[in-house]
This record gives sequence, C-alpha cells and structure tokens, in this order.
Amino acid sequence: MTTVRVNSTDNVVSFDTDALVVGVHSGPEGLLPAPGAEGLDEALGGRLATTLGAVGFNGKPGEIAKLPTFGALTAPLLVVVGLGDAPEGDHDTEALRRAAGTAVRALAGTTRVALALPTADARQAEAVALGGLLGAYSFTRYRTNGEQPAPVVELTVLSDAEGAEDAVGRAATVSESVSLVRDLVNMPPSDLWPARFAEIAEETGSEAGLSVQVLDEKQLKEGGYGGIVAVGQGSANPPRLVRLAYIHPEAAKTVAFVGKGITFDSGGLSLKPSASMDWMKSDMGGAGAVLGALVAIARLGLKVNAVGYLCLAENMPSGTAQRPSDVFTSLAGKTVEVLDTDAEGRLVLIDGIARAGRDNPDVIVDVATLTGAQIVALGWRTAGVMANDDELREQVVEVAGRQGEAAWGMPLPEELRKGLDSPVADIANLHPDRFGGMLTAALFLREFVPEGVRWAHIDMAGPAFNKGEPHGYTPKGGTGAITRTLVGLAERYAG
Ligand code: BES
Ligand code: MN
Ligand code: ZN
Repeated sequence: MTTVRVNSTDNVVSFDTDALVVGVHSGPEGLLPAPGAEGLDEALGGRLATTLGAVGFNGKPGEIAKLPTFGALTAPLLVVVGLGDAPEGDHDTEALRRAAGTAVRALAGTTRVALALPTADARQAEAVALGGLLGAYSFTRYRTNGEQPAPVVELTVLSDAEGAEDAVGRAATVSESVSLVRDLVNMPPSDLWPARFAEIAEETGSEAGLSVQVLDEKQLKEGGYGGIVAVGQGSANPPRLVRLAYIHPEAAKTVAFVGKGITFDSGGLSLKPSASMDWMKSDMGGAGAVLGALVAIARLGLKVNAVGYLCLAENMPSGTAQRPSDVFTSLAGKTVEVLDTDAEGRLVLIDGIARAGRDNPDVIVDVATLTGAQIVALGWRTAGVMANDDELREQVVEVAGRQGEAAWGMPLPEELRKGLDSPVADIANLHPDRFGGMLTAALFLREFVPEGVRWAHIDMAGPAFNKGEPHGYTPKGGTGAITRTLVGLAERYAG
C-alpha cells in the first residue's frame, strides 16, 4: 500500500526523493512554472522552459515529461505534468487530482515520489494527495509473471498550507475506501459472490466501527424481500442484504445509501449477448461505493448518522431462475411483473429502498450500474442523477462535481410512467419503449420510495468501469466511482 506524508516546501531543490513532480502551465506567453515549481528553474540554470520545449511539452492537462536532473537537484528525476492554462483564481482541485494521478501512475516502479504541485490551501493539498494515492492503485493479485511495475511506495506532498497534515490524512482515508471499491469491482465473480461480498463487508465494516447485519436467503424470504429473492433464485450463490450503520451521538441528520450489488449480471433467462457480459462483474459497483463510503464516513468520524444497504445477488439463468412474466411481491407490498429478467437491478434496489425507509432517513440516495441507456445518454464518464426533489438532485450533482466526479441532472418525465403499467400486477419492470431507458428505470424506482422521503438515484453504468485506457487518477477496470460523492453528501448532512 502506498503511504503519504507532508513536508514543507523549504528544501525542494535538495529534497531527498527518487522523483520530484512539478506542474507547468501552458499559456499565450509560453510555459509557466506552477506554484511549487518556482525555485527549480533557477537550480536548473533557467533552462526548464527550453528543455520542455525541446521534448515537445506543451503544458496541456494529461501531458507529462520526465527529465533527468544531472545532479542539479537531489532528486535524479524531475517529472513535469501539464496543468493547462494558469487559472485566474484558485487552482481547480480536480485539475490537481488528475495531474498528481497522471504523474504517480507514470512513476510505477519508483519507490519515493515527492509532489511539489500547487497547494495554496488544505483543500488543494488534499486534492494533490488524493490524486497521487488513487493514481498509485494497481490490481495485480491475479498476476503470476511479476512483470507489472510495483506501485509507488511512499508519497510526499510538499506543502506549507495550514491544515495540510489533516487534509492529507483525509485523502489517505478516502483513497483506501476507493481502492477497496476498485478491488471489489475488479475481482472475478468466481471469487466475489453475494455471501463472500457480505463477509468482506462484515470484516471491513466492523474494523471501521460500523455495525453490520447480514440477511441470508432464508431471512430474505421470511422478511418479504421479494425482489432480492426473485433475482437471486436462479443462482447457486444465494442472495444477501447487508445493512451497515454508523451512528454519531451528536448527529442531527440521517442519510441512507442503497447500492445495487449484482456480483454478476448474465441477464438471467433474458440472457445478455456475450459481448456485453464479460464486464458485468462490475454490476456490484453501486454496493461497492456504499460500502466504501460508509467505511470512510466512520473513519472520518463525520457528525451524521449513515446507514448503507448492499443489495447482493447473482443474476443467472437456471431451472430455478425467475421467468419473464413471473410476478413477485416486493418489500413495499407492491407486486411486480418481471417482463425482462435483465432489468434486475431495479428489482433488488426497490427492496433496499423500502428497507431504508424504516430507518427514517432525511434522505435516501441509491447508486447503481442500472442501465445501458445511461451510457447512451451521457457517455462513459458522466453519471445521471434523478430525484423526487429538484433541490436534492441539484445538491447531488453539485457535491459530485466538487469531488471531480462528473454527474448530470436528468428529468423524470411523467408521461413515461404509464408505460410501466402491467396488465396483471401493480407495475412492470420493463418499459415497452427503450428510448429514455435511464429515466423509465428511475420512474420505476420512484414508485417504491417511502411516502414523504427525499430520494435521489445515481445511474453510473458507464463511470463504474473504465473499459478504455487509464487517465488522470483513473485506472483501467474498476474506478470506485461515486464513493467520494457519497462521502461528500454525508459531509453535507453532518453538523
Ligand atoms: N447491469 C445492466 C446495465 C449496464 C449496462 C451496466 C452496461 C453497465 C454497463 C442492467 O442490469 C441491464 O441489463 N439493464 C438493461 C435494462 C433493460 C433490459 C430495460 C439495459 O440497460 O439494457
Ligand atoms: Mn441486467
Ligand atoms: Zn445489472
């Protein structure tokens, strides 16, 4: 695991490290060293800009140049990351996270890395630390050839900002949670089935001081969790519902988070084509984010009550699987006709949402890799946010933005609700029209939100898993998306 600490900026030139990272801005007048890099140019004989020009470095975000220092600095390697045009005011924290992540990712195999990026205040120091830590993530437990370079061992954030120590400590806590979520998403479904996920939640949750309760398939059936049971009944690995609770004695508010935890989504009898199946190990990313967030909330000691529900099931076809046209009774008491067994996420979530209502929360937020339609509407990196309350939706979008997690508010058009009417049950799980599929899924969920409770739904089908190349602090595979947004939301409701 990568460690992080803070050091003052007095001795950047002579700082003892294997690689020193600085930022450089692009601009109309050429390259401009960012705060943190000022003293270095002099030590390099004023040749920083010409050297960078010679290697074709423009200072754009995502750009990186590795320069040998030939003894001009104690660090043998100077790593320059592009920060884009110099901002008028404060540095954007997401730009700092990405720059730190890009640098640390490119330095895998290096032991000690010092980050001399702009840290005018504690928030920026936290961003630099978090970006660096998340950029150091790697998932190698299934590799036997040892060819992967080891992640950076020791990060130092060079900063004189007031409160930098605490800020960097917070970054370490959050990074640990995000890394846990990434690991869970990356784990093959042969090693992560509902009961195993529940065990991991029990272990990590109790260690963080959460109270953890697990319902097994028998208790789910007896308790009336018709949706979770219906989705899980086709698998040899039965379903679970995990409840995580963090109680602060001085808390005034309670937030409830509900995560979709399909450890593998084959589609069930409405089987998916192979090409869209292999990455369905990521279909538990919502439950991962809820677990990661609850662990971070407890470790940070936020003055809020937080409960988290992990709706865990494996969606498989078999002789015991639910059939298209089956009807079940959900925990809320409403009956549901299952027209498509691949629209399973909404079936487990409605039981989690109804259960969360019993905690009398001020707000319920569910997180799910719910629809391919989210990716069609917003692309791979931007989550969709829907709510039964405009202010809450805007709050979720705003909090996500502050964490650098792209999210966009989407509507719940009333005219689409009618399409969910079932000829036999209270509601059907499929809308006949696939257009607006992200919205009809949310309209389905809305029907199960307890009366009078503010509720928001985050569809992160795209953001949960990076099928493309790594970028910034985001690796290939599991991203840990929305974990930080949930922590940020809990902070909003904390006293
Ligand atoms: N887990 C999928 C959604 C998904 C798709 C997540 C792509 C990540 C990437 C979900 O259970 C699903 O299958 N949704 C269907 C719903 C449809 C049958 C109404 C979909 O989006 O096609
Ligand atoms: Mn599905
Ligand atoms: Zn699914």
